[in-house]
Amino acid sequence: MTRMPPILIAAGLLCASAIHARNEAPPPAPVKLAPGAGAEAVQATCTVCHPAAMFTAKRLNRRQWGDVVDQMINKGAQVSDENYDVIVDYLARNYAADEAPQPARG
Ligand code: HEC
Repeated sequence: MTRMPPILIAAGLLCASAIHARNEAPPPAPVKLAPGAGAEAVQATCTVCHPAAMFTAKRLNRRQWGDVVDQMINKGAQVSDENYDVIVDYLARNYAADEAPQPARG
């Protein structure tokens, strides 16, 4: 299989971005985190691998956010002991699940 010379790839990218600039609205601004204690820690810790939009659309309770942060630590997120609670508290406060009444168990 033949590889495309880099100059062609570069030319293709230039064309693509020129078309993009002409026909489309500017890309949406990146999601802004809700301000408050922990915002900076979350910004610094949780936007390294993916945009904040990955988690700002979620609505979870504190225990579930703790699980998410644990999972991210397993994926390689650098969360100090000091920041762990700050981050989980921030997420649970700003992206909280609606506390819907639990259905009665029969
Ligand atoms: C080391 C890289 C890394 C860091 C740092 C990181 N994440 Fe992730 N995160 C990932 C990867 C990779 C995925 C995609 C997992 C997948 O597709 O299954 C992901 C996915 C997610 C998801 C979506 C999970 C789902 O099932 O929908 C959430 C929510 C999330 N991250 C939150 C966070 C939060 C909160 C932090 C900060 C504590 C964080 N991430 C930091 C790597 C990271």
